[in-house]
Amino acid sequence: MAVYLGQKAPGFLVNTTKGPLSLENYKGNWVILFSHPADFTPVCTTEFMAFARRYDEFKKINTELIGLSVDSIYSHIEWMKNIKEKFGIEIPFPVIADINKDVAREYNMMDEKTGSTVRGVFIIDPNMIVRLMIYYPAETGRNIDEIMRTLKALQMNWDRKLAAPVNWQPGNDGIVSAPGTLDEAINREKNGSKTWYLTYEAVR
Ligand code: BEZ
Repeated sequence: MAVYLGQKAPGFLVNTTKGPLSLENYKGNWVILFSHPADFTPVCTTEFMAFARRYDEFKKINTELIGLSVDSIYSHIEWMKNIKEKFGIEIPFPVIADINKDVAREYNMMDEKTGSTVRGVFIIDPNMIVRLMIYYPAETGRNIDEIMRTLKALQMNWDRKLAAPVNWQPGNDGIVSAPGTLDEAINREKNGSKTWYLTYEAVR
């Protein structure tokens, strides 16, 4: 099976560093599911620490983080312990031990040549629909600011039906969806839009 934008996120019941986890239990929350190539690797370690530092910020906007790799639960536990000991950072979110590669294959996170997961990010909305998919190269760490920005853009769309223009940042104006009638189009310009198909709206 492949995963597509706009599709229902494939469900899973898995073993994690925080115990068993079912995706179903996250209904009503935004979820960031992210895969990493391997435990005890330098780039992944920086990413885990960066996600952990911003965990409360994600929680505040109703968003749960879930990590995943094909490493075992014991490997994950030892890596989390090591990060705490060496860097003083506790990883507060669950990390899936996908040793059978079931979730990785379902979400197209597998590099079948190496047998490892790729550096993938999936944002799943509160209705459990996949809203974003990004893949990064193994040698390049994710940009957490960009993941946060895109999540907030999706949440603006969810709350206000506004789209995010190029280089949008939280607090910037959103874009209203296109008018459906000629009258509405004419009104948009009368009300100050430069052209009928591009109308900004302030977000407060
Ligand atoms: C890393 O996280 O450092 C890494 C993982 C896989 C390949 C290259 C780098």
